[in-house]
Amino acid sequence: MQPSIVILTGAGISRESGLSTFRDADGIWATVRIEDVATPEAFARDPVRVHEFYNARRRGLLDPKVQPNPAHQALAELERARPGKVLLVTQNIDDLHERAGSRDLVHMHGELLKIQCQACGDVRDCRHDLGAGDSCPACGSTGTLRPQVVWFGEMPLKMDRIYAALSACDLFLSIGTSGNVYPAAGFVQEARSVARARTVELNLEPSEGASLFHEAIYGPASQVVPDYVRKLLDRT
Ligand code: APR
Repeated sequence: MQPSIVILTGAGISRESGLSTFRDADGIWATVRIEDVATPEAFARDPVRVHEFYNARRRGLLDPKVQPNPAHQALAELERARPGKVLLVTQNIDDLHERAGSRDLVHMHGELLKIQCQACGDVRDCRHDLGAGDSCPACGSTGTLRPQVVWFGEMPLKMDRIYAALSACDLFLSIGTSGNVYPAAGFVQEARSVARARTVELNLEPSEGASLFHEAIYGPASQVVPDYVRKLLDRT
């Protein structure tokens, strides 16, 4: 029986693809305040500013220079080698895991390339800038479109599916996340205490919850993740 694996990824896995992390010295939250751009209150108060912030990030993600790196590719390869046994849960709103070939993937904090209408709930793909006066293509309401991302104070997506997988996994990997934001930061404890899973952290440096992992491997994701996946596949 092949082990069941849950993998949590964060901004660190996309750093070497050219996307910024949040809490590193050069991270996004060093230049802009969370409460100005990433809360429902910020959007209600100043939708133009919030749209500008996400428009810039969307344009950045669509820059042809931004491509999946070997860490994204290794996780896609792991899923292909273990069909039905790997659930990838990402806090990232970029689409680099999909572009690398991952299919069983949960975007718990939403997706930058999708928009949602706050009036009718319509969700659709979006690759262009959004304005505060734009109308919803589904219901025609004006000023109700928002990026389909989970803001601080909102409930992350697909939590039932994630907790079901955590409670039944044999191996939990946490990659490129600082472990500052809950509920994701609590997944390691869930995997350990409920599933008695082995827990491994792969990150540039120890995360907030580093002591909760059985094993830690520190280094750039593009190196440590492919190495780890290769060893895992060789072993089993
Ligand atoms: N390889 C591996 N890890 C890296 C790399 C790299 N090349 N570069 C940076 N890191 C690590 C950092 O050391 C840090 O521990 O990635 C982690 C990134 O942490 P954060 O910036 O806090 O990002 P993340 O954990 O994904 O943030 C969680 O916070 O603001 C929110 O919604 C946002 O989803 C995000 C959530």
